[in-house]
Amino acid sequence: MRRFVYCKVVLTTSLVWVLVDVFLLLYFSECNKCDDRKDRSLLPALRAVISRSHEGPGEMGKAVNIPKDDQEKMKELFKINQFNLMASDMIALNRSLPDVRLDGCKTKVYSDDLPNTSIVIVFHNEAWSTLLRTVHSVINRSPRHLLVEVVLVDDASEREFLKKKLENYVRTLEVPVRILRMEQRSGLIRARLRGAAATTGQVITFLDAHCECTVGWLEPLLARIREDRTAVVCPIIDVISDETFEYMAGSDMTYGGFNWKLNFRWYPVPQREMDRRKGDRTLPVRTPTMAGGLFSIDKTYFEEIGSYDPGMDIWGGENLEMSFRWCLTYLHPGFPGTFLHGVCMFSLCMRGFSPGTLASSHSPKIC
Ligand SMILES: *[C@@H]1O[C@H](CO)[C@@H](O)[C@H](O)[C@H]1NC(C)=O
Ligand SMILES: *[C@@H]1O[C@H](CO)[C@@H](O)[C@H](O)[C@H]1NC(C)=O
Repeated sequence: MRRFVYCKVVLTTSLVWVLVDVFLLLYFSECNKCDDRKDRSLLPALRAVISRSHEGPGEMGKAVNIPKDDQEKMKELFKINQFNLMASDMIALNRSLPDVRLDGCKTKVYSDDLPNTSIVIVFHNEAWSTLLRTVHSVINRSPRHLLVEVVLVDDASEREFLKKKLENYVRTLEVPVRILRMEQRSGLIRARLRGAAATTGQVITFLDAHCECTVGWLEPLLARIREDRTAVVCPIIDVISDETFEYMAGSDMTYGGFNWKLNFRWYPVPQREMDRRKGDRTLPVRTPTMAGGLFSIDKTYFEEIGSYDPGMDIWGGENLEMSFRWCLTYLHPGFPGTFLHGVCMFSLCMRGFSPGTLASSHSPKIC
């Protein structure tokens, strides 16, 4: 009798476990099906892109390492643009990049009536792959309705591929890309002024010729200008290694200043800015000066404050000049433009809303 009861208990427990297992199996296989269905509803092409985008040299912003046998050639090519041209040329023009933003930035929702923008990029003898990777990253990662056009200003390049070949290439892109040519070497500022004058968007966004924009880079820049048309907005500048083209997230804890030699410098964001933002690092930082290469500005405001000084010759002056123009506009109400804030400008220090620039790209540049 006791044995019978014992058997019954064992059988019931086993049965219960079997039922639990069956239930779990069914539950999870249902879920797999759900995922499958979700997956199937994605366009097959899109899925292919997603899976392929993680392969290939430099995809997902990874470093490209040149094999030993090619090191000599690599060093030769390095001299042309002062970065690893061989690595750059191996990487797809539309390579994928990681999303390095803070989590809080990824879920932000922006108003659907943001101003639209024209992108102005000045180049001089830029490499084909870096220039076009810049253009592709802008086109691929900007909401189409916000991107009016890309204006490329050629500051008298000599390289043959930047002439007819470039014109033919950009004609195939899905966003209008215009190429303006300076008749003679004019320097960054005069070339930018020429590009700015030709834009038709509400906002002008200046970029360097060797950036890569990450996902969500544009909306926060434009959102600040929508709130306040006198805001001049810079993204965080991430870094692309000049040796390996690895994409490395920059810090959102530094902002622009200058030293007594009037050189632009990065300094730690002061505590008062941290306090003002109540510890929310997704909010923009107010900064005294900007790096100068990458920023958005309302077009009419740019004209009101007198744009750039066309007499600027030396690289690295225009950023402080621009910053002081805003400061002076503020300090001396007689200057054109209205200034509502006790700061020169805003900088959007949100990680990853940011085109990267090459670490050492600035020395051989335009001016
Ligand atoms: C880049 O473009 C090629 C050719 O159009 C395409 O096959 C590839 O999937 C694209 N890569 C990414 C990351 O979108
Ligand atoms: C940009 O925005 C302005 C103002 O809303 C509009 O008039 C213009 O047509 C827009 N440009 C493009 C190309 O969408």
